[in-house]
Amino acid sequence: MVQQWALPQVVGVLSEVKANERRVALTPNGAKALIDDGRLVVVQAGAGLGSGFFDREYSDAGAIIVNTPHEVFTQATLLLHVKEPQESEFQFFQPHHTLFTYLHLAAEPQVADALCASGCRAIAYESVEIDRHYPLLAPMSAVAGRLATQLAASFLEARNGGRGVLLGGIPGVEPATVLVIGAGVSGRHAAEVAAGMGAEVIIADINLERAQQVAALCGPRARAVQSGSEIIERIAPECEVIIGAVLSPGHRAPQVITSRILELMPEGAVVVDIAIDQGGCVEGVQATSHTDPVQSMGHVRVSATPNMPAAVPRTSTTALTAATLPYIRALAAGWTHAVTVHPELIGAVNVQSGEIVHPAIREELAKR
Ligand SMILES: NC(=O)c1ccc[n+]([C@@H]2O[C@H](COP(=O)([O-])OP(=O)(O)OC[C@H]3O[C@@H](n4cnc5c(N)ncnc54)[C@H](O)[C@@H]3O)[C@@H](O)[C@H]2O)c1
Repeated sequence: MVQQWALPQVVGVLSEVKANERRVALTPNGAKALIDDGRLVVVQAGAGLGSGFFDREYSDAGAIIVNTPHEVFTQATLLLHVKEPQESEFQFFQPHHTLFTYLHLAAEPQVADALCASGCRAIAYESVEIDRHYPLLAPMSAVAGRLATQLAASFLEARNGGRGVLLGGIPGVEPATVLVIGAGVSGRHAAEVAAGMGAEVIIADINLERAQQVAALCGPRARAVQSGSEIIERIAPECEVIIGAVLSPGHRAPQVITSRILELMPEGAVVVDIAIDQGGCVEGVQATSHTDPVQSMGHVRVSATPNMPAAVPRTSTTALTAATLPYIRALAAGWTHAVTVHPELIGAVNVQSGEIVHPAIREELAKR
């Protein structure tokens, strides 16, 4: 018998349910590309509104607009989301569904359980890997990295309860020092914006060469260090800002910003934990939200919002669809075709036939 996943798929675009999530998994142009390929596209009414895309633009592209998530789940076989499904949606998943979205299951065990119980196949954007590069994580990491520095600058302002320090200083008054831990995509973008604003930038990574490359991009005043608790504790007292941008693929984030490091930072300093979607890299951190974006931890203020790119949904949706569309088109043509043109999709399957099949995620969830 031919597996249903091998056949061409009806593509469903769901409205995001997660609080303050305004992105959408497909733009009207993306819908048009799929329809030109001969696919049926079903869009939940209002799904694109948060990103400024109207139902009319999807229907003009040839998509079918339906009113409820239930109708999307009933009519579509390939389901597109941005963030992990929420509890209200768990009941709708069926074994013939393929879900394509950000999942971060190592930090979301209840989502992992629900997807396993449904028997569906779930493919995670963040698990698509080509030679240790993550093409579907990278655009959102770029957005989150840039936003992290913008946020840190505003949290340092006195009116926002901060230290009253201008990130870039002015001639004659020294700028803030920004330490970025993790010199990958989000770290690079955070560091570049901080350097562009005139801050003193230090970039740390376990991979010193990568940290040096980012420091070189940030200009002559930036410096690189090999990351480790001793060096971070030594630097912490001079840091008005620390941005945590580490990733250990498939695992919970390593807690590189310990309580001791927070204690060593100056009063009113700011930490932005970008890695909160992987459980967070600050010891004891709780997730924050777009409406309540910062928490006090001792004398330091920590922001840890798991869906930072939702703050700039138009930019984020456009960037996300540009990256995911080739994969969506391939998956819509059926699994056999998809893995022929994008073999990296095989390793991105997180859940299949009731089991976690991604080794690192399975290992992480077994620790529960
Ligand atoms: N909060 C959000 O909205 C949001 C958005 C996008 C990405 N993210 C998250 O941001 C994190 C970083 O993503 P990325 O795409 O920049 O990853 P990346 O793989 O490009 O970079 C991660 C870097 O961390 C370094 N690293 C790993 N362990 C380390 C340690 N113990 N000490 C120092 N450096 C270490 C790696 O060497 C690598 O250079 C991920 O957890 C990702 O899920 C969050």
